[in-house]
Amino acid sequence: MYRIFKCPNCNGPMPLPHCSCGYAVSFNHGVYQLTNDPYMVKDESAEVKYIGYEDIGEAYSSGAAFYSKSWDEKRNRIADIIGTGTLLDLGCGDGLFTVPLLKRGINIIAMDISDKMLALLYKRAEDMGVETSNLVACRANALDVPLIDGSVDAVIANSMLHLISKPEIVVNEAYRVLKKGGKFISLEDKPTSASYSAARNKADLSDEEKSENEKHNGMIGYIHRRYFEILKAEYGILGTRYSWKFDKETVCDGLFAKKEKMLIPLDNKIKHNLNDTFIRRMQGKGYSDQSDVPHDVHVIVFDRVMNEFTREYGDDALDTAFTGYENDVEITVYSKD
Ligand SMILES: C[S@@+](CC[C@H](N)C(=O)[O-])C[C@H]1O[C@@H](n2cnc3c(N)ncnc32)[C@H](O)[C@@H]1O
Repeated sequence: MYRIFKCPNCNGPMPLPHCSCGYAVSFNHGVYQLTNDPYMVKDESAEVKYIGYEDIGEAYSSGAAFYSKSWDEKRNRIADIIGTGTLLDLGCGDGLFTVPLLKRGINIIAMDISDKMLALLYKRAEDMGVETSNLVACRANALDVPLIDGSVDAVIANSMLHLISKPEIVVNEAYRVLKKGGKFISLEDKPTSASYSAARNKADLSDEEKSENEKHNGMIGYIHRRYFEILKAEYGILGTRYSWKFDKETVCDGLFAKKEKMLIPLDNKIKHNLNDTFIRRMQGKGYSDQSDVPHDVHVIVFDRVMNEFTREYGDDALDTAFTGYENDVEITVYSKD
């Protein structure tokens, strides 16, 4: 990569890892350290707060949703849009997009505030046998992207804007670093739109499937509600939600010259059981709204909720499944003039 990075010391353009000002960017386990910012910022006095996933790590990627067809379809379509250009994956996490896209030969700059997630990205690449010579992985803050203006062909920032109290700053950064004609690829990525939880309840489901779905969703509601009820009443702890209602489309419409919507129709039937998806992730404190819950408190409260849950629903309740059809995938591609 040429002189497209910003030197953390003099702020001038630099190739990695040496700047002409004499500064050398440190490189730990395949990751360039381009910021000293903390993994998360939550104090009330901070101008912008955000939740990095350093403490979430492996608990993020549990759940069969990540191996569903909708993810393959999204990634294939993104690869087609990018062609041979360079992609910036902002808040790349453990490489849900980066790794399969590397496999398609795309050059990727993957940035995340969490070293742990970047390490998991390398692990995913190794597990999938994907070569990483086209990858530049950086610990960096999406609120102040260490790239010069007009330096990349495409940007994605999947499922990360809701973690930031002022997500419009990240969208502005994406716009700034795009070349003229560059594309911001936006996906339906609010926490509540995860493909497994929002799968369509099509008419051709059997009555048993429909009633099991109702039970399944009721159980999720029960566990989530009780967990946060106890935390609030007995520990004064609330779920942390910064920008779950962020109107990305309005902000992007105000910035970008053009937008094109693409719909990928899906008709893929999926089945997930409660234990392998929601419970596994919640037990691992893998949801961002759990990020203010200290580990010891989490263990006590989660255990208590699960005991109550078993008394209420019985021993077999964890096997309750959700069956549905994955939602069609909508991708909006914004282009910079
Ligand atoms: C829900 S995960 C999504 C990961 C990935 N994009 C995906 O689609 O699976 C959100 C990621 O954003 C990262 N993140 C949060 N705040 C950030 C910030 N200010 N700068 C960079 N990354 C950030 C977290 O560390 C986490 O890895």
